[in-house]
Amino acid sequence: MAFPYNEIVLEHFRNPRNVGTIENPDGKATEGSPACGDMVSVYINVEPETKKITDVKFESYGCASNIATGSIITELSKGKTIDEAKKITWKEASEALGGLPPIKAHCSVLAIEGLRSAILNYEEKHGLVTSKEATTEEVVRKRLKRVMNPMKGLDMVATNLVKSVEVKDGVIRVVVDLPEDHQFAATIKEEAKERLENLWDIKEVNIDFVK
Ligand code: FES
Repeated sequence: MAFPYNEIVLEHFRNPRNVGTIENPDGKATEGSPACGDMVSVYINVEPETKKITDVKFESYGCASNIATGSIITELSKGKTIDEAKKITWKEASEALGGLPPIKAHCSVLAIEGLRSAILNYEEKHGLVTSKEATTEEVVRKRLKRVMNPMKGLDMVATNLVKSVEVKDGVIRVVVDLPEDHQFAATIKEEAKERLENLWDIKEVNIDFVK
């Protein structure tokens, strides 16, 4: 049977580098793909003085392209400064893999976004975010678009789980259209909080459910 993948991709898929998690990482993020419902998590450790990525690990719940891209971006980003690592594009990742089938572009984009979000998570936690854009309802909704609704494999905004959003005096209040005792309520709450709580001008995040 002919695989649509070249040898480099297959090799990274079979022996992915740096798979796993980092305990108490300096930055971490999980990204989900609206195109296929797959997910990737990226963990980084950063040297505070030089801002170099000293360790990076990933976990993928995606396809072979996603796993291969996750693997290659850990190799491309390790030892780079966070500013350099942010600039790694999917094109570079794809080139380093000797080319991916175009239909699989979203899978590599997902892995790159995972890395960028883990870096952003690090920057937000360490007060390094330079663009001090005020947090608005729109900013909150944009972030919630990254939170997966496990029932549908799509994000919580697309699946109409966000009933209302309010931002006032540094406090965010999101009402989720699920009962509080729903089996996924706790997961959704935790993920939504993680996405919002490090915003530079936010001091409190409340995720509430319809009763
Ligand atoms: Fe979902 Fe590739 S098809 S990550």
